[in-house]
Amino acid sequence: MTVAIPTLLTPRLTLRALRAEDLDAFAAMHANPDVMKTLGTGVTRTRAETWDIMARMLGQWALRGYGMFAVVENSSGRFIGRAGILHPYEWEGPELAYGLDQPYWGRGYATEAANILHRWAFIQLQMPTLVSYVLPGNQASRNVLEKLGASCQGMTRLFGTVDAELWQHTTPG
Ligand SMILES: CC(C)(COP(=O)(O)OP(=O)(O)OC[C@H]1O[C@@H](n2cnc3c(N)ncnc32)[C@H](O)[C@@H]1OP(=O)(O)O)[C@@H](O)C(=O)NCCC(=O)NCCS
Repeated sequence: MTVAIPTLLTPRLTLRALRAEDLDAFAAMHANPDVMKTLGTGVTRTRAETWDIMARMLGQWALRGYGMFAVVENSSGRFIGRAGILHPYEWEGPELAYGLDQPYWGRGYATEAANILHRWAFIQLQMPTLVSYVLPGNQASRNVLEKLGASCQGMTRLFGTVDAELWQHTTPG
């Protein structure tokens, strides 16, 4: 199956398909422990691991018809992070996921990206359920989810080793 990866536009961001030339910026973000302590399994990733993660993210589009985007800042044209709908094999359902590189925190960008993804998932894709996972102590991410109307359902375990909060999204409107 091949799938055309759409481009989603917000006032300040473009969510588009990952490209090979995103590797430098993506690997720099993945090398920063301050970013990674609350992302994925909580550890930094090498450049080679980042390449494989990009390949996995792009592969999910072909297998499931939805996936992760590169997040680009419109004003600079820079890759500033990744966001989208993540759905690894082991997970029961799709996750609304986002992570930005540190220089771009605190500007409302995650909220802006999460809002359009929430609408895209429920309205365009007609997803029946949507969750988000938050590593303990990540108040910034909790704030993003609360603003979206999601609620914390308690703790769960990811990848057999990582304890995370399970947040349930509700349909828009
Ligand atoms: C979590 C993350 C995505 C937030 O991105 P962001 O663009 O800074 O988020 P926003 O600006 O849209 O909103 C964050 C909210 O949390 C607040 N916040 C930011 N840092 C905070 C902190 N350390 N403690 C408490 N609140 C914080 C902000 O004030 C804002 O709330 P407000 O709108 O009510 O003022 C970003 O910090 C990040 O990418 N971190 C590393 C990866 C990660 O944790 N991803 C999420 C995995 S679940």
